[in-house]
Amino acid sequence: VRCQSIDTNERKSDRNLLDNASNLLTQLLSGGSIGSMPTAEGAVTDLFDRPLFFSLYDWFLEHGSVYKLAFGPKAFVVVSDPIVARHILRENAFCYDKGVLADILEPIMGKGLIPADLDTWKQRRRVIAPGFHTSYLEAMIKIFTDCSERTILKFNKLLEGESPNDQKSIELDLEAEFSSLALDIIGLGVFNYDFGSVTKESPVIKAVYGTLFEAEHRSTFYIPYWKIPLARWIVPRQRKFQSDLKIINSCLDGLIRNAKESRQETDVEKLQQRDYLNLKDASLLRFLVDMRGADVDDRQLRDDLMTMLIAGHETTAAVLTWAVFLLAQNPTKMKKAQAEVDSVLGEGRPTFESLKKLQYIRLIVIEALRLYPQPPLLIRRALKSDVLPGGYKGDKDGYAIPAGTDVFISVYNLHRSPYFWDSPNDFEPERFMVQRKNEDIEGWAGFDPSRSPGALYPNEVISDFAFLPFGGGPRKCVGDQFALMESTVALALLLQKFDVQLKGTPQSVELVTGATIHTKNGLWCKLSKRSNLHH
Ligand code: HEM
Repeated sequence: VRCQSIDTNERKSDRNLLDNASNLLTQLLSGGSIGSMPTAEGAVTDLFDRPLFFSLYDWFLEHGSVYKLAFGPKAFVVVSDPIVARHILRENAFCYDKGVLADILEPIMGKGLIPADLDTWKQRRRVIAPGFHTSYLEAMIKIFTDCSERTILKFNKLLEGESPNDQKSIELDLEAEFSSLALDIIGLGVFNYDFGSVTKESPVIKAVYGTLFEAEHRSTFYIPYWKIPLARWIVPRQRKFQSDLKIINSCLDGLIRNAKESRQETDVEKLQQRDYLNLKDASLLRFLVDMRGADVDDRQLRDDLMTMLIAGHETTAAVLTWAVFLLAQNPTKMKKAQAEVDSVLGEGRPTFESLKKLQYIRLIVIEALRLYPQPPLLIRRALKSDVLPGGYKGDKDGYAIPAGTDVFISVYNLHRSPYFWDSPNDFEPERFMVQRKNEDIEGWAGFDPSRSPGALYPNEVISDFAFLPFGGGPRKCVGDQFALMESTVALALLLQKFDVQLKGTPQSVELVTGATIHTKNGLWCKLSKRSNLHH
């Protein structure tokens, strides 16, 4: 049914269909089919004992960069190869939708960009992407800074209040702090609503966390078990989930109503030329409501806001968490980062220009995303049969996959692949400063910065899909620059003021994963005022 609707919508010619069918046939005869793919047998315990992406990595080393993962009758194709990832994400992107992920997220995000069907996605992406224009991002730097300063003020108060004898350090769960910070930022940036979660709790904040928790819980189980009758025990939890959703939805509905009441309809170009630094409301919601010709019903707008609230919150909190986790184990790199902050910012606040100069901090964020990609797996489902290309290594003929095949692109595997990275498990932000070309690896073009001159960060284009910090192709993250600037500002301002140490051993920080990778019991750190402040 899905294939039919796609074909009708896109009005693919019969000729294309015939070509597709004959390609598939040729492939089936000459190359491999899903039946002949190396197979890893997953046990249900693999879902519970440890994060799934760890097992996917071991199987990648054992079975190669395209293999089938069988869980009883259910099978997934796991991809850890840049050429195959490029094919699925970019070259043949519209042959895939979000599959299992959409099933999971639809009750929360409705037809928001992440789970949206292709038709809705095309309409909404066209309208939302221009909202992240340069003046908007510039205005956001002020929000990132204000919110980070609120967090720092809180830490300073805790440091001062702890003991009359000039308390030297405090112990804090920085993951929780980053989560509050990222929530406040996304609320202000996307719909000009101050959750104020750094300093207080409210029913709306609780509802956001409740919903995130449920989204997380659902995405940990790549199989939607709650849909089967045996899952009745979850009913109370589902009731709580529904009431959380209701609270957030009515908050968002109120914001949408307000924005619509004060609507000033204008062309996109004029909207982008507004004096963003002095606007009272620079939010994306304002932009979407004021844009001429972008009329949309309130339900869609709410889905868009909800999607960005969730997509932009946990991810950024996670990248900050792992960046600090890695830095705390590498004091020399922490000092180097602090030295950069001192020389670029001194005691001041970041600006659009100075932010560009915080290159080392930015690479720390990027390296944290390499080691802990958010999310660790990209999920797709083939809408029609497809022929995957051969990978960079072995499997030169590729495989034919039938319509309906569920695919996991393991970004975690790509980012720690021994084939592309020296010391793949080491934290080495400096690695991105060395230009590399791997042209010797046949069939894969390697890292080539000239492919994306002036790029803000080492991205999927430069690395030819071996490195996907924000995904790639048409469904790439729409908030990549927002997120990168936000993380850079927050990390820089933290390091400007504080030294950070882990409270326990690195091994005691256990990983769990849902949509993002996070810690089991928080990132407990010791925070003290900078001892080596030059200013
Ligand atoms: C999509 C990562 C922050 C909004 C994605 C995707 C990735 C990603 C990998 C692609 C998913 C896929 O192909 O299946 C991240 C990371 C972030 C971050 C690592 C922070 C460090 C944000 C922020 C926003 C945002 C701040 C919004 C303000 C979105 C949206 C999509 C998306 C709307 C769906 C795009 C589409 O399908 O057209 N993100 N993201 N993300 N992200 Fe982000």
